[in-house]
Amino acid sequence: MDDMTLVTTTVPCMRRILERLNSELVIFNRNEENQKNLSLSSGMPPCSAKRTAIIIFTLKKEFGGLVKALQLFQEKHVRLFHIESRKSKRRDSDFDILVHCHTEHEQLKELAQLLRKQNDILEIKLFYNSPVFDDDMDSVPWFPKKISDLDLCANKVLMYGFDLDADHPGFKDNVYRKRRHYFADLASNFKHGNPIPRIDYTAEEVQTWGVVFRELNKLYPSHACKEYLMNLQLLTKYCKYSEDNIPQLEDVSHFLKERSGFIIRPVAGYLCPRDFLAGLAFRVFHCTQYVRHSSKPLYTPEPDTCHELLGHVPLLAETSFAQFSQEIGLASLGASDDAVQKLATCYFFTVEFGLCKQDGMLRAFGAGLLSSISELKHALSGKANILPFNPILASNQECLITTFQDVYFVSESFEEAKNKMREFAKTFQRPFTVHYNPYTQNMDILRDTNNINSMVKDIRYELDIVEDALSQLSKRRTD
Ligand SMILES: [Fe+2]
Repeated sequence: MDDMTLVTTTVPCMRRILERLNSELVIFNRNEENQKNLSLSSGMPPCSAKRTAIIIFTLKKEFGGLVKALQLFQEKHVRLFHIESRKSKRRDSDFDILVHCHTEHEQLKELAQLLRKQNDILEIKLFYNSPVFDDDMDSVPWFPKKISDLDLCANKVLMYGFDLDADHPGFKDNVYRKRRHYFADLASNFKHGNPIPRIDYTAEEVQTWGVVFRELNKLYPSHACKEYLMNLQLLTKYCKYSEDNIPQLEDVSHFLKERSGFIIRPVAGYLCPRDFLAGLAFRVFHCTQYVRHSSKPLYTPEPDTCHELLGHVPLLAETSFAQFSQEIGLASLGASDDAVQKLATCYFFTVEFGLCKQDGMLRAFGAGLLSSISELKHALSGKANILPFNPILASNQECLITTFQDVYFVSESFEEAKNKMREFAKTFQRPFTVHYNPYTQNMDILRDTNNINSMVKDIRYELDIVEDALSQLSKRRTD
């Protein structure tokens, strides 16, 4: 393996991503055994005596460069947990290497000095005390604790972004590739709290959107669930959904915030499942902002803004669906790689490809279906293999990206799907429980009596409100 090969701990669910990862990546698990294997020196002090750090350095593409750099970590007895690399945003031929490690401050400084002396290292950034693993939850993978922590994980785009595959319809189109760079830069510079940049879409992009919009709208009345249809009407009214206008994510985000508490965050392409699901836990939905290539308006190998706006957004405005989506995200925080993969697969077969029954008829609520003319027709054609939603079964299915799914799962309601997912999520072991505090937008970690007592007080207060409302109601009835 070339030492420039991408290295990551991510285990995404989607087959396309897996195929790419399998050919390019070495997957390091974060468990104890592998931490020992990753340790580049023997006889190190116990890691609990040290703090976590992140080092990001840019490396010229020269044979053996990464090996030389990692030898310096070994020399300084710095213990590694996780390494990733990606093509540098500054220059295509360079690589950014991100290293999570356990170290002491002095060691880190000395290591940085040594790295700076390496001719093939162009730039170094250090983040001391950055949370990789919580100090008192050593075996728990890091997860965002407050909504702005999503800034730390939103840029780890797995594929596409602007780096298109050879089989992408826009691969040979330099104008399109340049445009994708523009969208990738917007997404990577975005920070929580910023307004989402408004896009001046080109006539070609609007035309592509128009084809997708027109064709899908012919199918929606007979194929989409009633919640979708109702919210699409509202989006037409409040967010300017129409054949000749691509809605702005900023407007859509405000709309969703008022309807279900979800907000949008722009992203450059596929995020790894752990980071994507973490966003859902905070009611943040990562959305691409670019438009698919105009040569194939009815096909895209990746999510684009047509998929997000027509597939996902209408359902995210529905409170029961929003709750369902958030619970999948909450279950993923600090979960094992295996659990995250299972949750992501359930997400795929519900939020992306889910069906429901309404008035005795099958209807689609999955965004992958509601943004694909051919698969939407196929799923409701009577020829598709359809099973009642069962998270255990669904989590073991293969996610297909370039062909129709082998099987679709039908839920009686979002409520039923949520209850099944809730029970399924309880089977994953975590040494804590999480609760999202919408006032502070922080994730409360419930693992001691203080945290739990504080939550009980909040629940008592909520119950008082319910009790008061009920007594007002019974008073009005007796008057
Ligand atoms: Fe999607």
